[in-house]
Formats: sequence, C-alpha cells, structure tokens
Amino acid sequence: MNIFWFITTLLLLHSCTPGVGMDHGIVGGKVSIPHSHPYMVYIRDTQTHSACGGFLVREDFVMTAAHCKRDHLMVYLGVNDTNHLPEGIEVDAFPHPNFALQINKTCDDIMLLKLKTPATLNKTVNIIDLPETNKEKISSNCMVMGWGWQEYNEKSASRVLKEVNLTLLDAENCGAPQILCTEGTVGPARGDSGGPLICGNVPQGIVSYYKMNESTSYLTMYTNISHYLPWIHKIMNGFL
Ligand SMILES: *[C@@H]1O[C@H](CO)[C@@H](O)[C@H](O)[C@H]1NC(C)=O
Ligand SMILES: *[C@@H]1O[C@H](CO)[C@@H](O)[C@H](O)[C@H]1NC(C)=O
Ligand SMILES: *[C@@H]1O[C@H](CO)[C@@H](O)[C@H](O)[C@H]1NC(C)=O
Ligand SMILES: *[C@@H]1O[C@H](CO)[C@@H](O)[C@H](O)[C@H]1NC(C)=O
Ligand SMILES: *[C@@H]1O[C@H](CO)[C@@H](O)[C@H](O)[C@H]1NC(C)=O
Ligand SMILES: *[C@@H]1O[C@H](CO)[C@@H](O)[C@H](O)[C@H]1NC(C)=O
Repeated sequence: MNIFWFITTLLLLHSCTPGVGMDHGIVGGKVSIPHSHPYMVYIRDTQTHSACGGFLVREDFVMTAAHCKRDHLMVYLGVNDTNHLPEGIEVDAFPHPNFALQINKTCDDIMLLKLKTPATLNKTVNIIDLPETNKEKISSNCMVMGWGWQEYNEKSASRVLKEVNLTLLDAENCGAPQILCTEGTVGPARGDSGGPLICGNVPQGIVSYYKMNESTSYLTMYTNISHYLPWIHKIMNGFL
C-alpha cells in the first residue's frame, strides 16, 4: 500500500492508513488578486479550527472534500484575509456515502455542504459552474488555490488566497479514473484540501491528498468531479 497524506490542517491518524500528517503547503505560485476568484470558500471547524477550501456551485451548495468533514463546520464567502472573516454560514454535510466505507479513503473524497442560509451573490461572492457532462475533454492547463501552508515543514497558512498553475498528468499515471493528478515541487498544501482544481476555467478536481514520488517531488491527487456528476445532481436536485 502506498503512503499518502491528506491535505487538511489536522492529522488524520484515525482515518488514513498509514496516517502521517501532511507537512508542506502551497509552495510557489503567487498571491491572488483579492476577490478575483469569488467562488472560493473558506471552511473551518469552529471548535478545532481545522481549515479547508471549497467552492460555491449553487447559491445553496459548496463543494469540498469528504475528508474535510467535522462536526462544527462553517463556511465563509467572499474571503480575502482569513484574519478578517465575514459572518460564517452553518451547513448540512453530504459526504459521498462510499468515502466512509473505505479503509484507506483514497477514493470518493467529495462532499457537498448545503448552506442553511443561501448566499447572496455580488461582486465578491459568485458561483462557478460545474462541468456539464462527463464527456468533456479536460484541459491539462490547470490552477489550484487556497489559504494553506506556504512552506515545506513549516506551519505557514496564508492569510490571503494563493494560486499556482499546474499541468495535469495523463490518466495512466494517476491510478484510477476517479482521480486526477499533478506532480511537482509546487502545489496544494496542508489546509488547501477541498479547494478546486480549475482546468480551462472549469472546476474539474477537488484537492484530496498527496504521495511523495521522489524526495523533492510530490504526486498530488484530486477527486475527478466529472466522475461524480450523477451523484452531485442527485443530491442538489433533491433541494430544488
Ligand atoms: C486503497 O484500497 C483499495 C482497495 O482496498 C486498493 O485497491 C488501493 O490500491 C488502495 N490505495 C492506496 C493508495 O493504498
Ligand atoms: C486583502 O487582505 C490583505 C492582507 O490583510 C490586505 O493587505 C488587502 O488590502 C486586502 N484587500 C482587499 C481588497 O480587501
Ligand atoms: C457580498 O456578500 C458578502 C457575503 O454575504 C459580504 O460579506 C460582502 O460585504 C458583500 N459585498 C458587497 C460588495 O456587497
Ligand atoms: C497561470 O497561467 C496564466 C496563463 O497562462 C497566467 O496568466 C497566470 O499569471 C499564471 N499564474 C501563476 C500563478 O503563475
Ligand atoms: C474523469 O471522469 C470522467 C467521467 O467518468 C472520465 O470520462 C475521465 O476519463 C476521467 N478523467 C481521468 C483523467 O481519468
Ligand atoms: C515519479 O518518479 C519517477 C522516478 O524519477 C519518474 O519516472 C516518474 O515519471 C515520476 N512520476 C510518477 C507519476 O510516477
């Protein structure tokens, strides 16, 4: 079995096998222009302060990773600086039902959060449209963003949103059709879990976990959103 790390801000010793806390962050990239990605959502547990990213896919739904599930999650919309958060919105969590059933939890790492108060869209809060069909060709020019750690081996969450460009690897290198992957010395870091991988302006992936490939290179895995469209529509259409 491969060793892998989730990209949350908490060690998940109880749920990943073997569990080792991820210890690097969005290394490289640049600070995003404030509010240039208005779909981006900051997610935090009010008790543990464990943080994740997410993205607004409808006025009443945020998409994120299933391993970001905690008991007291709040979502924050239109965030620029995490030290100055707007009022949080409470949610009901819909993690993919198969995620909890796996031993190593490397698949089906997708969750929808239903906002108890729907978002009011404006210049700094907006929706990003999901892929329309699972037949779309995924562009390999991608970008990932988050408020996660910025340095290897150093707790260094970013107060402001950061983004980095990445190139998608061929499907054969990722191991499963449910997964997209990128490789390199830059990319999502601890605290960036749940954020979107935007390829050609479409959210195609959800930041999930990484594996060390070489001592300096990491293979980062993302949930392949297209693969889950039927499940996504089933959940969201249940609240129309
Ligand atoms: C996770 O478990 C599945 C089924 O038990 C296995 O096929 C897969 O290779 C495992 N993945 C990793 C990364 O260990
Ligand atoms: C975003 O936050 C940063 C860091 O606090 C601050 O310097 C900047 O002025 C803020 N920008 C906007 C548009 O709020
Ligand atoms: C947009 O909505 C957010 C969240 O509801 C709010 O914090 C922000 O002040 C609003 N911005 C404008 C320009 O109305
Ligand atoms: C990512 O690529 C786009 C277009 O190629 C470019 O405009 C942008 O500045 C790049 N972003 C970063 C963080 O390098
Ligand atoms: C992602 O899922 C879609 C829909 O199932 C599939 O067509 C596509 O090949 C997958 N992408 C990769 C890179 O595996
Ligand atoms: C990982 O590292 C090996 C050895 O350098 C290399 O051949 C391979 O292309 C890298 N990437 C993946 C996805 O395994």
